[in-house]
Amino acid sequence: MSFLIRLNLAGLDFIRLAEELWSMKNKLFGKHTGLPASEIILGAASLGERRGYGAIAEEIPKILAAYADAGGNFIDVADQYQFGEAEEIVGRFIEPQRHNFIICTKYTRSSERDPFPTNSGNHRKAMRQAIEGSLKRLKTDYIDIYMPHFDDGLTPIEEITRGLEDLVKAGKVLYTGLANFPAWKAAAIATTIPLTALQIEYNLVQRTADRELMGMANHFGLGTMLYSPLAGGLLTGKYRKGSAGRLTLSSPDGYQENAATQAIIDQLERIAAEVEAAPGQVALAWVLTQNAFPIIGARTLAHLQDGLKALEIRLNPDQVAHLDNISTVTMGYPHDLLRTVQKIY
Ligand SMILES: NC(=O)c1ccc[n+]([C@@H]2O[C@H](COP(=O)([O-])OP(=O)(O)OC[C@H]3O[C@@H](n4cnc5c(N)ncnc54)[C@H](OP(=O)(O)O)[C@@H]3O)[C@@H](O)[C@H]2O)c1
Repeated sequence: MSFLIRLNLAGLDFIRLAEELWSMKNKLFGKHTGLPASEIILGAASLGERRGYGAIAEEIPKILAAYADAGGNFIDVADQYQFGEAEEIVGRFIEPQRHNFIICTKYTRSSERDPFPTNSGNHRKAMRQAIEGSLKRLKTDYIDIYMPHFDDGLTPIEEITRGLEDLVKAGKVLYTGLANFPAWKAAAIATTIPLTALQIEYNLVQRTADRELMGMANHFGLGTMLYSPLAGGLLTGKYRKGSAGRLTLSSPDGYQENAATQAIIDQLERIAAEVEAAPGQVALAWVLTQNAFPIIGARTLAHLQDGLKALEIRLNPDQVAHLDNISTVTMGYPHDLLRTVQKIY
């Protein structure tokens, strides 16, 4: 409905834009749900400015509306993003249309700037306080997918599994998941409760999840959510052109340019010229070839529009294989050994 109204109001330019973006499809989320989830998830970490860096107020409604207008139904957030502001923004957006959206949110770090140990971490006390806060900020009485944000290294997995199960039984959570957990712990949890989702970092310069996490997720049929598909913006190639962004901040989070990342961006630029797209769109199109759901981050409407155009790119098998090869990671023991001895049979 809002799609048609906007078309009438905004005229031909918007019609062209909307048609370009009207291509997102739904896929079943993992092997054990009937949940139709849009093939690209909108990440909400950049929605808000409480952390000092993020989307400004006037961009936020445009980003959310453009994602929904493109057919998107899946938003990833966390209590900690923008110290609770991202959940508040998502809550206001979904309130009149809650049934239309799948919301994944996370706990562990709390929404506070300096949380006490009793309200952060993965223990039951933190989990209970966190879910109540998230439900309030998201203006809803249930979370579609709930997960710890990372393994705190302290809380026994039995405590996490029992806590998550109790939230499902209480009707506050529909599906459970894990973000940033070692594969062996995730496997132990998946054999105890019906785990549904896994959230991991995965892109052309970060593929170490190929060693254990991807195989584990496939084995348990988890819906796999891949965060930072553009390596935080590095794979757009904008930094080599001198543009600013969160990687040029005084305390950048995560990615930096080096010889290996430069080589990958070189190849993205080459393939981008072949398919008449931008390097970041090719990077995202490659992530879309994985059997998973990329979570894109957008600080501006233009970022989102650029990203969604990746859905229109059809990389040929040679291009996909080339990107696979240049980004592959060494598997290490026991995989390297097994590759030699398993040939015998
Ligand atoms: N579970 C976890 O621990 C975890 C961790 C990280 C992220 N996540 C989730 O994943 C989501 C996405 O993560 P991410 O933001 O790292 O994803 P990303 O897609 O790798 O990076 C997004 C950033 O790339 C830059 N960018 C995007 N399109 C661009 C364009 N067309 N031109 C120039 N720059 C562009 C922007 O950076 P600038 O803002 O600097 O311009 C944007 O904020 C988050 O919102 C969150 O939901 C989860």
